[in-house]
Amino acid sequence: MGKPETESRRHFLRFLAASPLLAAWLPALAQQRVASEVLKASDALNVFELESIARRNIPPAHFGYLSGGVLDDRTITSNRQAFDAWGLRARRLIDVSNVDLSIRLFGKPLASPVILSPVSSQRAFHPHGEAAAARAAGKRKALQILSGLTTVSLEDVMAAHGGEVWQQIYTSNRPEAGLKIAARADAAGAGALVLTVDLAGGMRRETKVIGARADTRDCGACHRQGPGYDFSRKKMFDGIDLAGIFAGQSDSLTWDYVARLRDVSKKRLLVKGIMTAEDAAIAVRRGVDGIIVSNHGGRAEESLVGTLDVLPEIVAAVKGKIPILIDGGFRRGTDVFKALALGATAVCIGRPYCWGLGAFGEEGVNAALRLIDEELASTMRQTGITSIAGITKTSLSKRN
Ligand SMILES: Cc1cc2nc3c(=O)[nH]c(=O)nc-3n(C[C@H](O)[C@H](O)[C@H](O)COP(=O)(O)O)c2cc1C
Repeated sequence: MGKPETESRRHFLRFLAASPLLAAWLPALAQQRVASEVLKASDALNVFELESIARRNIPPAHFGYLSGGVLDDRTITSNRQAFDAWGLRARRLIDVSNVDLSIRLFGKPLASPVILSPVSSQRAFHPHGEAAAARAAGKRKALQILSGLTTVSLEDVMAAHGGEVWQQIYTSNRPEAGLKIAARADAAGAGALVLTVDLAGGMRRETKVIGARADTRDCGACHRQGPGYDFSRKKMFDGIDLAGIFAGQSDSLTWDYVARLRDVSKKRLLVKGIMTAEDAAIAVRRGVDGIIVSNHGGRAEESLVGTLDVLPEIVAAVKGKIPILIDGGFRRGTDVFKALALGATAVCIGRPYCWGLGAFGEEGVNAALRLIDEELASTMRQTGITSIAGITKTSLSKRN
């Protein structure tokens, strides 16, 4: 009697294996599993498990904002695919019992080369927002770059962090607003200023809109509707005239703005959003202190070019004159290792720590940073390297 039942089950499983249904099913099943088994931050095996929990916790409109890119989100995929171009050359029988992840950036010690990218509006992911991220980062001695569109003020974030915090700047359509924020950050003691330059031309963020459509809550209840943009919770814009202002970047912004920023602040100045050797060379000529290779996590241009793909040409153009940071799709310690091997000074992560934030608040941010650090340390051991300075291209092999 049991046999036909077993056969029909086998038949069903064979049908399922051959069916596109499986592809649709498995991620949903995996997410259910994660949601029921990862009950605390320390249970997460990797940052993707934090993502699953965050997807469950964060309202659809906000999760759409966090996860999406522009147009078809294909540049998000390009960022990830770029890592697959490189394999690792494993080395054996080297004493790797002591692996040191620390680096010095502009003379300041950091416990890890992994840095928090500026991500706006973090109270949309967790009530404590950027302050929770700051507490986690501060305890780990990790550098945090605070978004110009933060929902917790720089002063409060610096108090929560207790160490190195940099301020990112969006000029908005009124460049004077960016100058005021720079002056405020300077006075507050930010370690450096980061000018983001990759949002000219507007962004068509379709996934964000689709997420908002799926949300049954009334967006107007928490976003003040008005001309331009919602600045009601953007703490660095307090005291700035908001009439007619919109966030992001003016389409008429040019390199001359770097000099204007220099007039209001003598802090280190980095430019974020560089994707070509030409612009990297201009940045060096203009005297900026560092660059961040970035396509805004696939949220600016739909270029289909991953940030790791352009890192070698940028390293060649910069010739070691200034530090090169990079972000976009870094999820694993192996990803971080590859960028360092190709010449990056440090690596920033955006969504992964926000998944941690949405999943478990401060503990989740700590988990995201810890997991990537642990993976980086084990990658170093497998390649026979004990210090970040020791990571070079000789540890990589080009894949087809
Ligand atoms: C929800 C969200 C908001 C962001 N807000 C900012 C921002 O305010 N300023 C900025 O320079 N970059 C911003 N970025 C881009 C990040 O700094 C970073 O470049 C990107 O997230 C890196 O890619 P990853 O998310 O794949 O790690 C944002 C990214 C996300 C996902």
